[in-house]
Parts: sequence; C-alpha cells; structure tokens
Amino acid sequence: MKTSPAPFHIPLSRRRLLHSLLLTTGGVITGSVYAEALTLTPRATEGPYYPDHLPLDQDNDLTMILGGKAPASGIITEFGGRLLNVDGRPIRDAAVELWQADNNGCYIHSRGAQQGKERDPGFQGYGKVETNAKGEYRFRTILPGLYTGRTLHYHIRVKQNDKSMLTTQLFIAGVPQNDRDGILRSMGTAEQRLSVIREFTPKSPGSKELAAAWDIVIGHTPEDPEQSGRGPGGPPRRRDGDQDIKDALFGPSF
Ligand SMILES: [Fe+2]
Repeated sequence: MKTSPAPFHIPLSRRRLLHSLLLTTGGVITGSVYAEALTLTPRATEGPYYPDHLPLDQDNDLTMILGGKAPASGIITEFGGRLLNVDGRPIRDAAVELWQADNNGCYIHSRGAQQGKERDPGFQGYGKVETNAKGEYRFRTILPGLYTGRTLHYHIRVKQNDKSMLTTQLFIAGVPQNDRDGILRSMGTAEQRLSVIREFTPKSPGSKELAAAWDIVIGHTPEDPEQSGRGPGGPPRRRDGDQDIKDALFGPSF
C-alpha cells in the first residue's frame, strides 16, 4: 500500500511515532492521526521593514528585476514546499509573500538602508507567489544579509482572500547566530521553532546555490493584526560573521 512521505516539518520523534503506527496498523494511517502530527507554523513579528513601497516587479524570482541591468549579488538560494491546513489538506490559490534583507543587510523600505550601505539595485527585495492546485509555492532569492541584533531570516506572510493568515520568519539551520536570536527564541514551542529552521544545502555537489524544503501549516482563522505587530525599529547595522555563515553552509573551503 502506498503511503504519503513524512513531511519535512515533522520532527524525528514524530516520524518514529508515525513509522511505528504504520507498522502496527499495516500501513493504514487515518486522517485524524496524520492531522494530529502536523505542527502549526509559529507566528513571528512582521518587523519594521515590510515594504512601504512595493517594487514594480513582484514575482517569485527576487534575483532578477524585470528590465534590470545586473542580477542580485549574494548567494543564490531557493526554497519552497506546500501550504497546508492543520488537517493536512493543501491550500490552493493563497498568496505567499517574501521580503528580506539584500546582501548588504538593507530592505526595500524608506528606512531600510543601513548607515554607510546602499541597497543592492539588482535585488527585488519583495516577491509573492500563488499556491498551485497542490498547495505548492516556490521562491528563488538570495541568502539574506546579516545585520546587528538578528540572525539570518526571511520574512513570510500568507494571505487568503486578501486576509493575512500568518506572518512568520524562516531561518537557516547551522547559522551560528540562531542560538541567540531573540525573535526565533520567542516563537511558539520548541517543536514549532524546529519547523521554521530549515536545512539549506548545496543544490548539487559543489554547487554554490543553496536549496531548502519548507512546508507551511496554517490554522483556519485570519490573524489578529496586533499579533503580527511591528518589532523594534531603528536602522540595521552589519555585523561580522558572514564568513562563519558561509563556512557553516558550504564548509571552510567556500
Ligand atoms: Fe528582518
């Protein structure tokens, strides 16, 4: 009998539980058991840099701007997966938005450029995509730039019928700054935090592009705007540590 592969967001302990259930039920897992295993993606602050002016090009490839002269600088990354209800059903025709710092740690926001740094004119900064019939979404972008007080992170919002269902942040496993990031540490339960820290690995051996899989699980009710309230303001500043991050993701020879 065919069974669905375990989604990426199920921690190992849950996977073992499901595996043992498969054995004891002869491969039959009921919808309710499967639904119980899904972990809601935790909410996180929107932060101060949701774009206050949207770019003309808003597609899901942030590395190239339509009519632009040069591609974005930075390490190319791709991530994607499925948007699911907590009961495990794919959600189609929902909008998934991404906004993030460019390679210099700057956002496309009127206060989003850090002191002494300029925004990368080749980086789109914001993009969105609609989930397909299978609930799938995908982005091609860059590794976000680092700035003081935060670890590397992507900002994500899910909208259905123009209502915000989830505002969250996505993190990269192995980044040394993750352990002391106040926002990451405040997000949901330990299991929920694990669900937003994904493995970004080279697309193929020796590749300098990274890829990751991330399923997003949302509840049924729109979020209270106050729950996604703005975090502390102030311009971002760069911190040293880029080489530590590259070493962690590609190995010391990068
Ligand atoms: Fe941010």
